[in-house]
Amino acid sequence: MSRSGKVTVVGAGFYGSTTALRLAEYDIFETVVLTDIVEGKSEGLALDINQSRSIENFETKVVGATTTADGGGYEKTANSDVVVITAGLPRKSGMSRMDLIGVNAGIVRGVAENLAKYSPNSVIIVVSNPLDEMTALTQLATKFSYNKVIGQAGMLDTARFTNFVAEKCGVDISGVKTLTLGSHGETMVPVPSRCTVNGKALSDVLSTVDIADLVDKTRNGGAEIVALLKTGSAYYAPSAAAARMARAVITDSNEVMPVCAWVNGEYGINGVYLGVEAQIGKHGVNKVVETNLTADELASLKVAAEAVRTKQADVKDL
Ligand code: NAI
Ligand code: 2OP
Repeated sequence: MSRSGKVTVVGAGFYGSTTALRLAEYDIFETVVLTDIVEGKSEGLALDINQSRSIENFETKVVGATTTADGGGYEKTANSDVVVITAGLPRKSGMSRMDLIGVNAGIVRGVAENLAKYSPNSVIIVVSNPLDEMTALTQLATKFSYNKVIGQAGMLDTARFTNFVAEKCGVDISGVKTLTLGSHGETMVPVPSRCTVNGKALSDVLSTVDIADLVDKTRNGGAEIVALLKTGSAYYAPSAAAARMARAVITDSNEVMPVCAWVNGEYGINGVYLGVEAQIGKHGVNKVVETNLTADELASLKVAAEAVRTKQADVKDL
């Protein structure tokens, strides 16, 4: 089996280390680089993942690198094809994602500037919160074209919606299709009109009240886990989402995925990073794919766009 390409995961916390493990287990990359500012953390985790290779049967090598704010250690990330930025604080119980903006903006800006220097041709997938704003900030800091900076949120939120629908209906996950657009926050837009259960419209299977309840659970999906964990946030489903996006880039799969992408004209919305469906390949976003929405869903998407637009305008000063 041939392996190719280099992926860097910045931040070796819960999200970053599980993402690195998933990427290594795909066994399609030549190298996975895992970095962190905490001395030895990424090297230790890389060693641990490499020692699982003979059990899980994969050859991809994981390289750990301790980095510094002024760019020390970034040479090991040089010429990455794709990068996942997970560096930054997670929220604690009772915090919103937006409460992280000040501290995470400083971290993400520094990381993005260093990445742009060492991997100028990479596609960057941002996961640090608040997601829509950190994605916009990464594009500003790297000066990369908009298509090469993508945020991960829609894959996760959609997967949560799918899980809730499958559990409510008592069917296999594979029989459920759902979609979530909008922001990774208060103005998330789960799209019931695009949901099917074993090929039937969700509205034929569940009552309006039940659907509204599942939409609400999806919007609060991250907070529910934070409240249970007490400290830190989810990482198994989030890392699965980011790893799939990185895989779509490196394999140039052209899959259509819900992601945070630059929207300029689609849905009548201009100039903002927003959760939409997009075709993902080696250049990042090939195109934003518009879907049929009900009037209410479209109105909610426009509300989300204006909400994130205001916050994204602020990130240039952070
Ligand atoms: P964590 O606290 O376990 O890990 C964060 C890591 O980043 C730490 O190891 C820390 O040392 C490292 N770090 C901090 N500054 C750095 C820098 N300048 N360079 C390299 N590494 C640096 O947190 P976790 O759970 O891994 O979450 C990471 C981020 O992902 C948080 O902001 C969280 O809110 C976000 N997140 C986003 C989701 C999404 O759907 N977009 C879902 C889940 C989490
Ligand atoms: C999540 O949705 C906290 O953004 C993180 O799990």
